[in-house]
Amino acid sequence: MNWATDSWRNKPALQLPTYKDAALLKATEEELSKLPPLVFAGEARRLQEHLAHVANGKAFLLQGGDCAESFAEFNANKIRDTFRVILQMAVVMTYAGSMPIVKIGRMAGQFAKPRSSDSETIDGVTLPSYRGDNINALEFTKESREPDPRRMVKAYHQSAATLNLLRAFASGGYANLNKVHKWNLGFVKDSPLGERYQELANNIGEALRFMEACGINSQSFPSIKETSFYTSHEALLLPYEEALTRQDSLSGDYYDTSAHMLWIGARTHQLENAQVEFIRGIKNPIGLKCSPDLDVDELLRLIDILNPENIAGRLTLIARMGHDKVETSLAPLLRAVKSEGRSVVWSCDPMHGNTIKSSSGYKTRPFDMILAEVKGFFAAHRAEGTHAGGVHLEMTGQDVTECVGGAHAIADEDLSSRYHTHCDPRLNANQALEMAFLISDELKNTRPICED
Ligand code: PEP
Ligand code: CO
Repeated sequence: MNWATDSWRNKPALQLPTYKDAALLKATEEELSKLPPLVFAGEARRLQEHLAHVANGKAFLLQGGDCAESFAEFNANKIRDTFRVILQMAVVMTYAGSMPIVKIGRMAGQFAKPRSSDSETIDGVTLPSYRGDNINALEFTKESREPDPRRMVKAYHQSAATLNLLRAFASGGYANLNKVHKWNLGFVKDSPLGERYQELANNIGEALRFMEACGINSQSFPSIKETSFYTSHEALLLPYEEALTRQDSLSGDYYDTSAHMLWIGARTHQLENAQVEFIRGIKNPIGLKCSPDLDVDELLRLIDILNPENIAGRLTLIARMGHDKVETSLAPLLRAVKSEGRSVVWSCDPMHGNTIKSSSGYKTRPFDMILAEVKGFFAAHRAEGTHAGGVHLEMTGQDVTECVGGAHAIADEDLSSRYHTHCDPRLNANQALEMAFLISDELKNTRPICED
Protein backbone atom coordinates (compact mmCIF):
# COMPACT_ATOMS: atom_id res chain seq x y z
CA MET A 1 0.00 0.00 0.00
CA ASN A 2 3.02 2.22 -0.45
CA TRP A 3 3.29 3.25 3.18
CA ALA A 4 6.24 3.57 5.50
CA THR A 5 6.53 4.71 9.10
CA ASP A 6 7.93 7.99 7.77
CA SER A 7 5.81 8.48 4.62
CA TRP A 8 3.83 11.17 6.50
CA ARG A 9 6.91 13.36 6.21
CA ASN A 10 6.15 13.98 2.50
CA LYS A 11 2.66 15.30 3.26
CA PRO A 12 1.40 18.67 4.38
CA ALA A 13 1.01 18.72 8.16
CA LEU A 14 -1.03 20.90 10.46
CA GLN A 15 -0.60 21.35 14.20
CA LEU A 16 2.99 20.09 14.37
CA PRO A 17 5.56 22.12 16.31
CA THR A 18 8.60 23.62 14.64
CA TYR A 19 11.65 22.67 16.64
CA LYS A 20 14.56 25.09 16.50
CA ASP A 21 17.23 22.48 17.12
CA ALA A 22 16.89 19.95 14.28
CA ALA A 23 19.88 17.90 15.47
CA LEU A 24 18.43 17.52 18.96
CA LEU A 25 15.08 16.48 17.45
CA LYS A 26 16.80 13.81 15.36
CA ALA A 27 18.84 12.49 18.28
CA THR A 28 15.69 12.35 20.42
CA GLU A 29 13.77 10.45 17.74
CA GLU A 30 16.62 7.94 17.56
CA GLU A 31 16.65 7.55 21.32
CA LEU A 32 12.88 6.99 21.41
CA SER A 33 13.05 4.46 18.61
CA LYS A 34 15.35 2.29 20.75
CA LEU A 35 13.17 2.37 23.86
CA PRO A 36 10.93 -0.62 24.59
CA PRO A 37 7.36 -0.64 23.23
CA LEU A 38 4.72 0.55 25.69
CA VAL A 39 2.05 -1.86 24.45
CA PHE A 40 2.22 -5.08 22.47
CA ALA A 41 0.75 -5.89 19.09
CA GLY A 42 -1.23 -8.79 20.58
CA GLU A 43 -2.94 -6.44 23.01
CA ALA A 44 -3.91 -4.06 20.22
CA ARG A 45 -5.33 -7.03 18.28
CA ARG A 46 -7.33 -8.11 21.34
CA LEU A 47 -8.77 -4.61 21.69
CA GLN A 48 -9.74 -4.71 18.03
CA GLU A 49 -11.63 -7.96 18.67
CA HIS A 50 -13.50 -6.31 21.56
CA LEU A 51 -14.30 -3.33 19.36
CA ALA A 52 -15.57 -5.68 16.65
CA HIS A 53 -18.22 -6.78 19.15
CA VAL A 54 -19.13 -3.11 19.60
CA ALA A 55 -19.34 -2.63 15.83
CA ASN A 56 -21.66 -5.65 15.70
CA GLY A 57 -23.99 -4.24 18.37
CA LYS A 58 -22.95 -6.65 21.12
CA ALA A 59 -20.83 -4.43 23.35
CA PHE A 60 -20.40 -0.78 24.32
CA LEU A 61 -17.30 1.40 24.44
CA LEU A 62 -16.39 3.65 27.37
CA GLN A 63 -13.40 5.85 26.60
CA GLY A 64 -12.37 8.54 29.04
CA GLY A 65 -9.66 10.50 30.76
CA ASP A 66 -7.89 13.84 30.75
CA CYS A 67 -8.07 16.29 27.88
CA ALA A 68 -4.34 16.64 28.41
CA GLU A 69 -2.17 14.71 30.83
CA SER A 70 0.50 16.85 32.43
CA PHE A 71 3.92 16.44 33.98
CA ALA A 72 2.97 18.53 37.04
CA GLU A 73 -0.16 16.55 37.92
CA PHE A 74 1.45 13.14 37.55
CA ASN A 75 0.97 10.94 40.59
CA ALA A 76 -0.29 7.49 41.55
CA ASN A 77 -3.50 8.67 43.21
CA LYS A 78 -4.65 10.52 40.11
CA ILE A 79 -4.11 7.46 37.94
CA ARG A 80 -5.87 5.26 40.48
CA ASP A 81 -8.84 7.59 40.85
CA THR A 82 -9.50 7.95 37.12
CA PHE A 83 -9.18 4.19 36.67
CA ARG A 84 -11.55 3.63 39.58
CA VAL A 85 -14.26 5.94 38.25
CA ILE A 86 -14.06 4.31 34.81
CA LEU A 87 -14.55 0.91 36.48
CA GLN A 88 -17.46 2.21 38.54
CA MET A 89 -19.11 3.62 35.42
CA ALA A 90 -18.51 0.38 33.53
CA VAL A 91 -20.23 -1.76 36.18
CA VAL A 92 -23.36 0.41 36.04
CA MET A 93 -23.37 0.41 32.25
CA THR A 94 -22.70 -3.34 31.95
CA TYR A 95 -25.74 -4.05 34.08
CA ALA A 96 -28.02 -1.54 32.36
CA GLY A 97 -27.08 -2.58 28.84
CA SER A 98 -26.53 -6.30 29.55
CA MET A 99 -23.44 -5.87 27.45
CA PRO A 100 -19.70 -6.00 28.01
CA ILE A 101 -18.17 -2.53 28.31
CA VAL A 102 -14.87 -2.04 26.51
CA LYS A 103 -12.78 0.30 28.67
CA ILE A 104 -10.18 2.61 27.15
CA GLY A 105 -8.40 5.41 29.02
CA ARG A 106 -7.31 8.69 27.52
CA MET A 107 -4.25 7.94 29.61
CA ALA A 108 -0.59 6.99 29.41
CA GLY A 109 0.19 9.17 26.38
CA GLN A 110 -2.53 11.82 25.95
CA PHE A 111 -0.23 14.86 25.92
CA ALA A 112 -0.21 16.63 22.54
CA LYS A 113 -2.98 19.15 21.86
CA PRO A 114 -4.22 20.68 18.61
CA ARG A 115 -4.98 24.39 19.00
CA SER A 116 -7.37 26.65 17.13
CA SER A 117 -4.78 29.43 17.19
CA ASP A 118 -0.99 29.22 16.84
CA SER A 119 -0.50 32.04 19.32
CA GLU A 120 -1.96 33.47 22.48
CA THR A 121 -2.01 37.11 23.55
CA ILE A 122 -2.16 38.18 27.18
CA ASP A 123 -1.91 41.86 28.18
CA GLY A 124 -0.49 42.78 24.79
CA VAL A 125 2.17 40.03 24.84
CA THR A 126 1.87 37.40 22.09
CA LEU A 127 3.53 33.98 22.48
CA PRO A 128 3.15 30.58 20.79
CA SER A 129 0.17 28.58 22.09
CA TYR A 130 0.63 25.81 24.63
CA ARG A 131 0.50 22.49 22.72
CA GLY A 132 0.72 19.90 25.47
CA ASP A 133 3.45 18.89 27.91
CA ASN A 134 5.25 16.68 25.39
CA ILE A 135 5.81 19.79 23.22
CA ASN A 136 6.08 22.92 25.38
CA ALA A 137 5.06 24.21 28.83
CA LEU A 138 1.89 25.99 29.94
CA GLU A 139 3.63 28.84 31.73
CA PHE A 140 3.25 32.08 29.76
CA THR A 141 6.93 32.86 29.10
CA LYS A 142 8.92 32.82 25.89
CA GLU A 143 11.20 30.01 27.13
CA SER A 144 8.33 27.79 28.31
CA ARG A 145 6.44 28.08 25.07
CA GLU A 146 9.44 27.07 22.94
CA PRO A 147 8.93 23.46 21.66
CA ASP A 148 11.52 21.17 23.23
CA PRO A 149 12.07 17.66 21.76
CA ARG A 150 13.36 16.34 25.12
CA ARG A 151 9.82 16.61 26.44
CA MET A 152 8.91 13.60 24.29
CA VAL A 153 11.30 11.42 26.29
CA LYS A 154 9.78 12.61 29.54
CA ALA A 155 6.29 11.89 28.19
CA TYR A 156 7.40 8.38 27.20
CA HIS A 157 8.67 7.61 30.71
CA GLN A 158 5.56 9.05 32.36
CA SER A 159 3.42 6.94 30.01
CA ALA A 160 5.45 3.83 30.88
CA ALA A 161 4.98 4.41 34.61
CA THR A 162 1.26 5.12 34.16
CA LEU A 163 0.76 1.95 32.13
CA ASN A 164 2.67 -0.08 34.67
CA LEU A 165 0.28 1.01 37.41
CA LEU A 166 -2.80 0.54 35.22
CA ARG A 167 -1.74 -3.01 34.42
CA ALA A 168 -1.26 -3.72 38.12
CA PHE A 169 -4.66 -2.27 39.00
CA ALA A 170 -6.39 -4.20 36.21
CA SER A 171 -5.01 -7.59 37.22
CA GLY A 172 -3.98 -7.24 40.88
CA GLY A 173 -7.38 -7.35 42.59
CA TYR A 174 -8.20 -3.64 42.60
CA ALA A 175 -10.85 -4.19 39.92
CA ASN A 176 -12.86 -6.67 42.01
CA LEU A 177 -16.50 -6.39 40.98
CA ASN A 178 -17.83 -6.51 44.56
CA LYS A 179 -15.48 -3.75 45.64
CA VAL A 180 -16.43 -1.58 42.68
CA HIS A 181 -20.08 -2.06 43.53
CA LYS A 182 -19.44 -0.94 47.14
CA TRP A 183 -17.86 2.27 45.86
CA ASN A 184 -20.98 2.85 43.78
CA LEU A 185 -23.19 2.41 46.83
CA GLY A 186 -21.09 5.10 48.53
CA PHE A 187 -21.66 7.42 45.57
CA VAL A 188 -25.43 6.85 45.60
CA LYS A 189 -25.59 7.48 49.36
CA ASP A 190 -23.73 10.79 49.10
CA SER A 191 -25.35 12.14 45.92
CA PRO A 192 -28.03 14.81 46.35
CA LEU A 193 -29.90 12.97 43.58
CA GLY A 194 -29.03 9.54 44.97
CA GLU A 195 -32.63 8.39 45.19
CA ARG A 196 -32.82 8.47 41.43
CA TYR A 197 -29.94 5.99 41.16
CA GLN A 198 -30.88 3.80 44.11
CA GLU A 199 -32.95 1.29 42.20
CA LEU A 200 -30.27 0.51 39.65
CA ALA A 201 -27.63 0.18 42.38
CA ASN A 202 -29.93 -2.17 44.35
CA ASN A 203 -30.51 -4.30 41.28
CA ILE A 204 -26.77 -4.67 40.74
CA GLY A 205 -26.41 -5.70 44.41
CA GLU A 206 -29.12 -8.32 43.93
CA ALA A 207 -27.40 -9.68 40.84
CA LEU A 208 -24.10 -9.99 42.72
CA ARG A 209 -25.79 -11.81 45.62
CA PHE A 210 -27.47 -14.15 43.15
CA MET A 211 -24.12 -14.88 41.51
CA GLU A 212 -22.52 -15.52 44.92
CA ALA A 213 -25.34 -17.92 45.81
CA CYS A 214 -24.66 -19.79 42.57
CA GLY A 215 -21.01 -20.16 43.57
CA ILE A 216 -19.77 -17.48 41.16
CA ASN A 217 -17.25 -15.48 43.20
CA SER A 218 -13.70 -14.23 42.89
CA GLN A 219 -12.27 -17.52 44.22
CA SER A 220 -14.14 -19.73 41.77
CA PHE A 221 -13.97 -17.22 38.89
CA PRO A 222 -10.76 -15.14 39.18
CA SER A 223 -11.98 -13.03 36.26
CA ILE A 224 -14.34 -11.31 38.73
CA LYS A 225 -11.38 -9.53 40.25
CA GLU A 226 -9.69 -8.67 36.97
CA THR A 227 -10.53 -6.47 34.04
CA SER A 228 -9.19 -5.46 30.63
CA PHE A 229 -8.16 -1.86 30.32
CA TYR A 230 -6.65 -0.21 27.27
CA THR A 231 -4.91 3.10 26.56
CA SER A 232 -5.40 5.68 23.82
CA HIS A 233 -4.45 9.17 22.71
CA GLU A 234 -4.63 11.48 19.72
CA ALA A 235 -2.03 10.62 17.07
CA LEU A 236 -0.92 14.20 16.64
CA LEU A 237 2.78 14.47 17.38
CA LEU A 238 4.05 12.31 14.54
CA PRO A 239 7.80 12.31 15.33
CA TYR A 240 6.90 10.60 18.62
CA GLU A 241 4.39 8.21 17.06
CA GLU A 242 6.80 7.23 14.28
CA ALA A 243 9.59 6.52 16.77
CA LEU A 244 7.33 4.15 18.69
CA THR A 245 6.01 2.34 15.64
CA ARG A 246 7.51 -1.13 15.38
CA GLN A 247 7.14 -4.11 13.09
CA ASP A 248 5.40 -7.00 14.81
CA SER A 249 7.54 -10.10 14.53
CA LEU A 250 4.52 -12.41 14.36
CA SER A 251 2.48 -10.75 11.62
CA GLY A 252 5.02 -8.47 9.95
CA ASP A 253 2.52 -5.62 10.43
CA TYR A 254 3.35 -2.22 11.89
CA TYR A 255 1.90 -1.22 15.25
CA ASP A 256 2.22 2.13 16.97
CA THR A 257 3.28 0.83 20.38
CA SER A 258 2.67 4.16 22.16
CA ALA A 259 -0.97 3.13 22.89
CA HIS A 260 -3.49 0.45 22.08
CA MET A 261 -5.73 2.83 20.17
CA LEU A 262 -4.90 6.07 18.38
CA TRP A 263 -7.26 8.61 16.92
CA ILE A 264 -7.16 11.53 14.50
CA GLY A 265 -8.49 14.82 15.82
CA ALA A 266 -11.12 17.00 14.21
CA ARG A 267 -8.50 19.51 13.00
CA THR A 268 -6.13 17.08 11.31
CA HIS A 269 -8.26 14.70 9.25
CA GLN A 270 -7.54 16.20 5.81
CA LEU A 271 -7.32 13.36 3.29
CA GLU A 272 -3.95 14.42 1.86
CA ASN A 273 -2.31 15.31 5.16
CA ALA A 274 0.29 13.78 7.41
CA GLN A 275 -1.86 12.44 10.25
CA VAL A 276 -4.15 10.50 7.90
CA GLU A 277 -1.12 9.16 6.04
CA PHE A 278 0.51 7.97 9.25
CA ILE A 279 -2.49 6.38 10.88
CA ARG A 280 -3.70 4.50 7.81
CA GLY A 281 -0.57 2.32 7.90
CA ILE A 282 -0.60 1.20 11.52
CA LYS A 283 -2.61 -1.87 12.45
CA ASN A 284 -3.85 -0.65 15.84
CA PRO A 285 -7.55 0.02 16.15
CA ILE A 286 -7.98 3.69 15.24
CA GLY A 287 -10.48 6.49 15.74
CA LEU A 288 -11.60 9.51 13.76
CA LYS A 289 -13.25 12.53 15.34
CA CYS A 290 -16.26 13.68 13.32
CA SER A 291 -17.34 17.31 13.66
CA PRO A 292 -20.52 18.83 12.18
CA ASP A 293 -18.62 20.18 9.17
CA LEU A 294 -17.61 16.69 8.01
CA ASP A 295 -19.78 15.85 5.03
CA VAL A 296 -20.88 12.43 3.84
CA ASP A 297 -18.50 12.25 0.84
CA GLU A 298 -15.48 13.24 2.87
CA LEU A 299 -16.34 10.72 5.56
CA LEU A 300 -16.76 7.90 3.05
CA ARG A 301 -13.45 8.75 1.42
CA LEU A 302 -11.76 8.78 4.82
CA ILE A 303 -13.26 5.39 5.63
CA ASP A 304 -11.91 4.07 2.29
CA ILE A 305 -8.44 5.20 3.31
CA LEU A 306 -8.57 4.21 6.97
CA ASN A 307 -10.37 0.89 6.73
CA PRO A 308 -10.15 -0.27 3.11
CA GLU A 309 -10.77 -3.91 4.03
CA ASN A 310 -13.84 -3.04 6.09
CA ILE A 311 -12.58 -4.86 9.17
CA ALA A 312 -14.97 -4.72 12.14
CA GLY A 313 -13.35 -3.01 15.16
CA ARG A 314 -10.65 -1.28 13.12
CA LEU A 315 -12.35 2.13 12.94
CA THR A 316 -14.24 4.06 15.61
CA LEU A 317 -16.05 7.20 14.46
CA ILE A 318 -16.20 9.61 17.37
CA ALA A 319 -18.98 12.13 16.74
CA ARG A 320 -18.48 15.48 18.51
CA MET A 321 -21.31 17.54 17.11
CA GLY A 322 -22.69 19.73 19.91
CA HIS A 323 -25.97 19.16 21.75
CA ASP A 324 -27.97 21.29 19.33
CA LYS A 325 -26.55 19.72 16.16
CA VAL A 326 -26.14 16.07 17.04
CA GLU A 327 -29.39 14.70 15.69
CA THR A 328 -29.40 16.62 12.39
CA SER A 329 -25.65 16.36 11.69
CA LEU A 330 -25.31 12.73 12.64
CA ALA A 331 -28.32 11.33 10.77
CA PRO A 332 -26.91 11.69 7.20
CA LEU A 333 -23.59 10.18 8.29
CA LEU A 334 -25.25 7.21 10.00
CA ARG A 335 -27.44 6.62 6.95
CA ALA A 336 -24.56 6.77 4.46
CA VAL A 337 -22.24 4.53 6.47
CA LYS A 338 -25.02 2.00 6.92
CA SER A 339 -26.17 2.00 3.30
CA GLU A 340 -22.56 1.65 2.07
CA GLY A 341 -22.20 -1.39 4.33
CA ARG A 342 -19.22 0.02 6.28
CA SER A 343 -18.48 -1.60 9.59
CA VAL A 344 -17.64 1.04 12.20
CA VAL A 345 -18.02 1.71 15.90
CA TRP A 346 -20.06 4.85 16.47
CA SER A 347 -19.06 6.65 19.65
CA CYS A 348 -20.26 9.97 21.09
CA ASP A 349 -17.88 12.66 22.35
CA PRO A 350 -20.34 15.05 24.02
CA MET A 351 -17.53 17.31 25.29
CA HIS A 352 -15.89 19.11 22.38
CA GLY A 353 -19.04 20.50 20.75
CA ASN A 354 -20.32 21.93 24.03
CA THR A 355 -17.51 24.13 25.27
CA ILE A 356 -18.55 27.64 26.29
CA LYS A 357 -16.94 30.56 28.08
CA SER A 358 -18.58 31.13 31.45
CA SER A 359 -19.36 34.60 32.72
CA SER A 360 -16.45 34.19 35.13
CA GLY A 361 -14.15 33.80 32.11
CA TYR A 362 -13.41 30.07 32.45
CA LYS A 363 -13.88 27.59 29.61
CA THR A 364 -16.61 25.25 30.80
CA ARG A 365 -19.15 22.67 29.67
CA PRO A 366 -22.62 22.50 31.17
CA PHE A 367 -23.48 19.02 32.42
CA ASP A 368 -26.95 19.31 30.89
CA MET A 369 -25.58 20.06 27.42
CA ILE A 370 -23.25 17.05 27.67
CA LEU A 371 -26.17 14.85 28.65
CA ALA A 372 -28.36 16.34 25.91
CA GLU A 373 -25.76 15.43 23.29
CA VAL A 374 -25.56 11.85 24.59
CA LYS A 375 -29.34 11.56 24.46
CA GLY A 376 -29.44 13.05 20.96
CA PHE A 377 -26.80 10.55 19.88
CA PHE A 378 -28.89 7.62 21.11
CA ALA A 379 -32.01 9.11 19.51
CA ALA A 380 -30.26 9.48 16.15
CA HIS A 381 -29.19 5.83 16.28
CA ARG A 382 -32.68 4.68 17.23
CA ALA A 383 -34.09 6.59 14.26
CA GLU A 384 -31.60 5.05 11.81
CA GLY A 385 -31.59 1.54 13.26
CA THR A 386 -27.85 1.66 14.01
CA HIS A 387 -25.94 0.78 17.17
CA ALA A 388 -25.07 3.65 19.51
CA GLY A 389 -21.73 2.11 20.33
CA GLY A 390 -19.98 4.20 22.93
CA VAL A 391 -19.12 7.40 24.72
CA HIS A 392 -15.87 9.34 24.80
CA LEU A 393 -15.53 11.63 27.81
CA GLU A 394 -13.04 14.10 29.19
CA MET A 395 -13.13 13.26 32.88
CA THR A 396 -11.04 12.78 35.97
CA GLY A 397 -11.31 10.88 39.24
CA GLN A 398 -10.53 14.10 41.11
CA ASP A 399 -13.02 16.47 42.70
CA VAL A 400 -12.34 19.35 40.28
CA THR A 401 -14.69 22.20 39.39
CA GLU A 402 -14.41 22.55 35.63
CA CYS A 403 -17.83 21.61 34.18
CA VAL A 404 -20.90 23.38 35.58
CA GLY A 405 -24.00 21.52 36.76
CA GLY A 406 -24.58 17.94 37.89
CA ALA A 407 -26.22 16.80 41.12
CA HIS A 408 -23.81 18.90 43.20
CA ALA A 409 -24.81 21.88 41.04
CA ILE A 410 -21.39 23.36 40.35
CA ALA A 411 -21.99 27.01 39.48
CA ASP A 412 -19.98 29.58 37.51
CA GLU A 413 -18.72 31.08 40.77
CA ASP A 414 -17.35 27.68 41.85
CA LEU A 415 -15.16 27.18 38.79
CA SER A 416 -12.17 29.07 40.20
CA SER A 417 -11.92 26.88 43.32
CA ARG A 418 -10.53 23.70 41.73
CA TYR A 419 -9.98 24.38 38.04
CA HIS A 420 -6.90 22.24 37.30
CA THR A 421 -7.13 21.14 33.67
CA HIS A 422 -4.24 21.94 31.35
CA CYS A 423 -6.63 22.19 28.45
CA ASP A 424 -10.39 21.48 28.26
CA PRO A 425 -12.81 21.23 31.24
CA ARG A 426 -13.42 17.67 32.50
CA LEU A 427 -16.27 16.00 34.32
CA ASN A 428 -15.25 15.39 37.92
CA ALA A 429 -15.63 11.97 39.59
CA ASN A 430 -19.22 12.55 40.74
CA GLN A 431 -20.32 14.09 37.46
CA ALA A 432 -18.76 11.22 35.46
CA LEU A 433 -20.47 8.58 37.55
CA GLU A 434 -23.75 10.42 37.41
CA MET A 435 -23.40 10.51 33.64
CA ALA A 436 -22.99 6.71 33.66
CA PHE A 437 -26.22 6.30 35.64
CA LEU A 438 -28.03 8.61 33.21
CA ILE A 439 -26.56 6.87 30.15
CA SER A 440 -27.95 3.66 31.65
CA ASP A 441 -31.48 4.87 30.92
CA GLU A 442 -30.53 4.89 27.24
CA LEU A 443 -28.61 1.63 27.40
CA LYS A 444 -31.64 -0.23 28.71
CA ASN A 445 -33.21 0.29 25.31
CA THR A 446 -30.07 -0.76 23.48
CA ARG A 447 -29.66 -4.27 24.84
CA PRO A 448 -28.19 -6.82 22.45
CA ILE A 449 -30.43 -9.39 20.87
CA CYS A 450 -29.90 -12.72 22.63
CA GLU A 451 -29.20 -15.63 20.34
CA ASP A 452 -29.86 -18.66 22.51
C1 PEP B 1 -9.63 16.24 22.16
O1 PEP B 1 -10.14 15.11 22.10
O2 PEP B 1 -9.06 16.67 23.18
C2 PEP B 1 -9.78 17.15 21.01
C3 PEP B 1 -8.95 18.15 20.80
O3 PEP B 1 -10.85 16.85 20.27
P1 PEP B 1 -11.28 17.31 18.79
O4 PEP B 1 -10.16 16.90 17.88
O5 PEP B 1 -12.53 16.54 18.55
O6 PEP B 1 -11.50 18.80 18.84
CO1 CO C 1 -10.17 18.17 24.78
